[in-house]
Amino acid sequence: MTFADILVRPTGKGFSGKDRANVIAVPADKSISHRIAMFAGLGRGAVEVANYPLGDDNRRTLDFVRTLGADIDILEKCDDRLRVNIVGIGGQPKLRADLVDCGNSGTTSRICMGITAGLPIRLSFDGDASLTKRPMRRVTEHLEAMGAKIMPYKAGGDPDKLPLTVAGGKLHDYSFHNKKASAQVKSAVLMAGLTGGVTVTVTEPALSRDHTERFLAGYGYDIETAPGRITLRSKGLDHDNSGAFTIPGDPSSAAFWAALAVLTDGEAAIVRQVCTNPTRDGFFAALREFGADIRVAAEHATTPELVQDLHIGGKLARGGRIEGELVVRAIDELPLLALLGMFVPAGEHIDIRDAAELRVKETDRIDAIADVIRAFGGDVETGPDWIRSGPPVGGFVGREAKNFSPLQIDACHDHRIAMGAAVAAIGAGIPILIKGGGVADISYPQFWHELQSRGLAQVEKI
Ligand code: S3P
Repeated sequence: MTFADILVRPTGKGFSGKDRANVIAVPADKSISHRIAMFAGLGRGAVEVANYPLGDDNRRTLDFVRTLGADIDILEKCDDRLRVNIVGIGGQPKLRADLVDCGNSGTTSRICMGITAGLPIRLSFDGDASLTKRPMRRVTEHLEAMGAKIMPYKAGGDPDKLPLTVAGGKLHDYSFHNKKASAQVKSAVLMAGLTGGVTVTVTEPALSRDHTERFLAGYGYDIETAPGRITLRSKGLDHDNSGAFTIPGDPSSAAFWAALAVLTDGEAAIVRQVCTNPTRDGFFAALREFGADIRVAAEHATTPELVQDLHIGGKLARGGRIEGELVVRAIDELPLLALLGMFVPAGEHIDIRDAAELRVKETDRIDAIADVIRAFGGDVETGPDWIRSGPPVGGFVGREAKNFSPLQIDACHDHRIAMGAAVAAIGAGIPILIKGGGVADISYPQFWHELQSRGLAQVEKI
């Protein structure tokens, strides 16, 4: 798939409070949306899901549950969200196809392979040019150890990469240590345990996002969670879909607006209904540490998740180091944090450690972000599992130049690189041409429109 190039010309203005241009509702949380689609698709009866995001990744998970036999009705489509009715399979798959195209979505491919492993079906998984390069062994080794059969889709294919075929069936109890603290791996094994009706224990060095555990507990499954240890005792799929579910906003999308609020002069931003689950709040914790003013403006009680309105203002007063469990809590926001290193006071840096996982995301995010920082003239150094960034010597060039020809960077088929580069360009006051920037559609199709409508930049799709 090719994506449009995006030209972003900063206006030099920050958020205005006029007509509430500083009040933003971000798309629904991608991780929670994947999981509600999976649980609803596997359960008995119907559930109406409000605020389902239009990003491509989440559509792929709907495709997966439709393939298992679930019925999905789009009840309403707005600019950036859907209201969908999902009628689940009640634990009994009726396959409609034998291959699922997961597009760019690592979460769809990995967790859905787990779901398939415990069901008496055979299903293949494929992906786009980026996903077919990402490692799958981290999931398949555990599913195989539980008893599933997994093989390359075509003879001679790489068993660590999509396309792969999963032949599910009889599994056995399983315990493992999730040494990379990957929520996708943990969730794949838990979901295999759930559909396979076995007991699974997972230990992890730092608590990775826990949405799967919250759903399992919410649906009444026998799950025990203690710091660093989760045990699910499953007797097989057995849950009712009931009522309605509204998905809260995505903190990873809110992060872009928070960064814009601290980089521009103007009103504080108010980002509404954001999921602030403590396994996902690392970006905001780091930003606060670096001097930003982040306050809870309102609390909402809508799902088993913490949902808040956040008020974000202030400035980056200093840099600092991000490491250990904070890396896990901010895993998807690390590229943006590295870019923010260009905006800390001269002589300071943002130093991100323990981040080897960045090398196997939608692209190698350490190299991709280092290239963006270099294009801006920023100071950057990298290593196998770290990236350290600081401001350009002598500041950004071209702040006032109206017709300054744009910088050019490559989004590298990665939505977070594309949006992060736009945020940095607005912070620096430098126009930028983001090659393949349309990839933002993966998680935030309205992002470019919103940047323009909030008065921060003029945006053209080329
Ligand atoms: C996700 C887990 C994380 C994250 C990804 C979404 C999930 O990946 O980076 O965007 O929804 O479980 P890892 O499990 O590879 O850390």
